[in-house]
Amino acid sequence: MPRLSADSTSDIQEVLDLARRDATIYDPVFLNRFHAHFPTLHRLFFTLYGERDDGVEQLSAVIAEASASWNARPLELRARDDRSDVDPEWFQSERMLGGVCYVDRYAGSLAGIREKIPYFQELGLSYLHLMPIFESPEGNSDGGYAVSSYRRVDPRVGTMAELAHLATELRAADISLVVDFIFNHTSNEHDWARKAIAGEPGFEDFYLIYPDRTMPDAYEQTVREIFPDDHPGAFVQLDDGRWIWATFYHFQWDLNYANPAVFRAMAGEMLFLANQGVEILRMDAVAFIWKRLGTPCESLPEAHLLLRAFNEVLRMAAPCLLFKSEAIVHPDEVVEYISLEECQLSYNPLQMALTWEALATRDPRLLQQALERRHALPSGTSWVNYVRSHDDIGWTFADEDAAELGIHGYSHRRFLNDFFVGRAPGTFARGVPFQENPKTGDARVTGTTASLAGIEADDAGGVDRVILAHSIALSTGGVPLIYLGDEVAQLNDYSYVVDPATADDSRWVHRPANPADRYAQRDDPATVPGQVYGRLSALIRARRSTPEFAGNELIGFDAHHPAVLGYQRPGADAASPCILVLANVGDDPARIEPMTLSGFQGDAEDIVTKSPVDLTDGMTMPAHGFVWLRVTPVG
Ligand code: GLC
Repeated sequence: MPRLSADSTSDIQEVLDLARRDATIYDPVFLNRFHAHFPTLHRLFFTLYGERDDGVEQLSAVIAEASASWNARPLELRARDDRSDVDPEWFQSERMLGGVCYVDRYAGSLAGIREKIPYFQELGLSYLHLMPIFESPEGNSDGGYAVSSYRRVDPRVGTMAELAHLATELRAADISLVVDFIFNHTSNEHDWARKAIAGEPGFEDFYLIYPDRTMPDAYEQTVREIFPDDHPGAFVQLDDGRWIWATFYHFQWDLNYANPAVFRAMAGEMLFLANQGVEILRMDAVAFIWKRLGTPCESLPEAHLLLRAFNEVLRMAAPCLLFKSEAIVHPDEVVEYISLEECQLSYNPLQMALTWEALATRDPRLLQQALERRHALPSGTSWVNYVRSHDDIGWTFADEDAAELGIHGYSHRRFLNDFFVGRAPGTFARGVPFQENPKTGDARVTGTTASLAGIEADDAGGVDRVILAHSIALSTGGVPLIYLGDEVAQLNDYSYVVDPATADDSRWVHRPANPADRYAQRDDPATVPGQVYGRLSALIRARRSTPEFAGNELIGFDAHHPAVLGYQRPGADAASPCILVLANVGDDPARIEPMTLSGFQGDAEDIVTKSPVDLTDGMTMPAHGFVWLRVTPVG
């Protein structure tokens, strides 16, 4: 078989002819898309796999998969594809609100999730991320992030047919289904993994396996340890003495994307999920997918090329599907994944971490700086803003940014870790350390929002801080994402330590079972869950009816107060009303002087309480208080 040539026009016919051996390629809609996207896909394939003898063969197989997948694509999903052509920025709307949960913990099963649709509608969700639901090893499976089959749902929660059915029902309720695409690794029980270690032809190179420590030692000179509590370095030893790459747990084996057969196989799994009705794939651990000796093996240029190639395949066969990047890395690297051609959505780990940082220090400067400097995104893409996720909180701010404010990155991270795990004097937080690495001093923090914010410790500011943190995530743009249960102030669940499958992973402290008792109190303002739910619901309602909250555009606002964060969400143009957000992260009331607000007309509106506010007197904000004001610039 010849290699790919540099010019796509000389390969296109051969690729199509070969693909036609495996699939019928006739549909004019598909063929149009194929012709539109083939040149880019071909260029990417050539860059990644130009030296391989199987480049043409694998690219043809990808095209065959894409066509077969398009032929099987349900009509309803094709209609969704059309919608995204007409309204490609649908996910930028002020009506977007995400929720995330574990199917088993939150609702028992997929059937249980279905029963919760009315509640999701009550809350206002338009996006539901179900944590991994695929077949995975018994016992510890990293919460399902060790996938044994992308085509089978864990039988304890349901079946793939039920998932597809659920996607349809969610769509009818205007909720888009989001699932993980765990494409950096599979579990050691995946068919490919078994075949690879057995040396079955075609599978030997699916993973990175070495006969001895020579290559692992060489790689480990430059790669980070991600789960040092589980194993040192990036490799684990197989029973036969060989070594295999495992960035995360020892049972999660990294796929070898230098082999185009791996790309082809994963493109097939991706298209399969797209046809079940998934609308957004959360691209798990994107930074790790390409390895090169002598580098940190994170965020290498090829990782971006692979994402682009996956996108081109999608645009041929499931155009409405979007990618959300999970890159919890340096902020300079986070944004590199966000573009129309790679991930149209991305977690905003910097804003998340700095929200907590501001609450701990009572100093909003780092967060203010991040919003002013690191919030802008390419048009048509969006942040997913969250208060916390199923994972630990890592302090991923840039040391250079902190240094400008006289903050020393290393010692500040130490302080934050101590503060949030309850070791610092006077702390209100009840978090638990995660993956403390004595070699590097690195550590991260786990805990539910309520426990980290002071509710567990009965701190008087606890409820206010939970609302304040969410008010930031809800007002900075993009898709706000709530960890379900946090809206009723669920607390840490320390029972994870007694289950051997979870005992060594403190992230389980913040993944409690559905807090049914707290949900039952959600309408009772005399209770903490009722207060949090009531106040959060009011914010969600206000957000939905505020078009200025659509998109990501944000302009910093200097509140001239050391504890007050400020920003504006612009209106249609510079003269139009806009939303001014002020948030007091301090423990004392904050006075905003009339002069500070004199760029706006005197009569403003609090869009949460719907009451008029006279700016000519200035404002006094309570401790941990905030306002969302519709203001009109002075003409
Ligand atoms: C991502 C997930 C995390 C998991 C890891 C390995 O970071 O969010 O929960 O442990 O990937 O799949």
